[in-house]
Amino acid sequence: MNGATVRITLNGRPFEVEEGCSVAAAVARLGVPFRHSVRGEPRMPLCGMGVCFECRVCIDGVAGQRACMVPVRAGMQVTTDG
Ligand code: FES
Repeated sequence: MNGATVRITLNGRPFEVEEGCSVAAAVARLGVPFRHSVRGEPRMPLCGMGVCFECRVCIDGVAGQRACMVPVRAGMQVTTDG
């Protein structure tokens, strides 16, 4: 990491996040909750390597993306409970 940042939109709010990090890392560092289960229980990344699907987010309108597998990009729109 070189300290550079990119701007993303997370749950409708703009944030500067570290360039090159995963969406999961960016969301966690910002302290934004991840999704909730169908019973309303809070969920969060577990494996960090694309296996558990606990980190699912909506990225640029595509639901069910594994946040731990996707690096942040400038202009990315992320929704954690969508
Ligand atoms: S944390 Fe397990 S798939 Fe992302």
